[in-house]
Amino acid sequence: MSEAADAPAPPPANRVRIWDGPTRIFHWAIVLLIPAMWWTAENEEIALHVTLGLVMVALIVFRLVWGLIGSSTARFATFLKGPRGVMAYLKGSATHSVGHNPLGGWSVAAMLLVLVAQVGLGLFAESTDGYEVGASGPLTNLVSLETAERLTDLHELMFNLLLALIALHIAAVLYYAVIKRRNLVGPMITGSGTAPAGTLPVRKVSVLRIAFALAVSAGVALYLWSLL
Ligand code: HEM
Ligand code: HEM
Repeated sequence: MSEAADAPAPPPANRVRIWDGPTRIFHWAIVLLIPAMWWTAENEEIALHVTLGLVMVALIVFRLVWGLIGSSTARFATFLKGPRGVMAYLKGSATHSVGHNPLGGWSVAAMLLVLVAQVGLGLFAESTDGYEVGASGPLTNLVSLETAERLTDLHELMFNLLLALIALHIAAVLYYAVIKRRNLVGPMITGSGTAPAGTLPVRKVSVLRIAFALAVSAGVALYLWSLL
């Protein structure tokens, strides 16, 4: 008898689509931009920081709209589960589907929320180095100098919270890779990964929706740009 016949049969697995293109582009774009945001802020390249900040605003607005109208695995309604869903997942009795698991879903929501707060505060942030054009957030004029300074302090503080969440996120991805032997990074790059046979793949939506989300995000960012 061959060796293969003695070995327990591995559970059947299929290759399925998990993430759509827009979600993956969003992810790797923020991974590149966040270090650039830190570097430009630390090196007093504030005009560049603000310009990249508006690109960041466009990305975040896109992701928020995509969370409402995008493919199944990108939608908030799909991956934000109530306490019962989270408990079922923790007990291992949840039905399997592709995308963020119920626990990961909430950590993604926390990261997106902190990113919204970070860019929101940045819009009101006041640069300490004078009156260089484009060196303060586009909405600074809506508040007093004192308030703008307070919001700038909060913007700096919030960055530490963002760093803590990113550290936790990378630790979780490493935990899956090393302990659970599951590669989550591959699907975030290629869009596809293995899943138990019978698992339904991502449900994609019309490209018109991508165009709509892009139009909304570009509109918001360009409007803010016009206020600089
Ligand atoms: C600046 C650093 C990072 C931030 C802010 C960040 C943020 C995020 C966010 C918001 C998501 C959810 C994607 C969505 O639904 O839109 C996500 C997912 C993911 N990220 Fe990151 N990420 C960062 C760095 C990384 C790095 C360095 C890796 C790889 C080592 C990574 C691997 C992943 C993977 C694999 C997922 C999918 C998780 C799953 O299968 O549920 N991330 N990340
Ligand atoms: C994820 C996005 C962002 C990150 C990670 C980030 C990070 C930071 C950090 C760490 C600082 C403090 C630098 C220091 O004084 O030590 C800072 C300052 C600042 N940020 Fe941001 N920022 C982001 C988005 C934005 C946005 C969207 C804007 C405006 C469009 C903005 C405008 C400013 C301004 C005007 C300052 C004040 C610089 C100064 O004190 O002279 N930021 N940012």
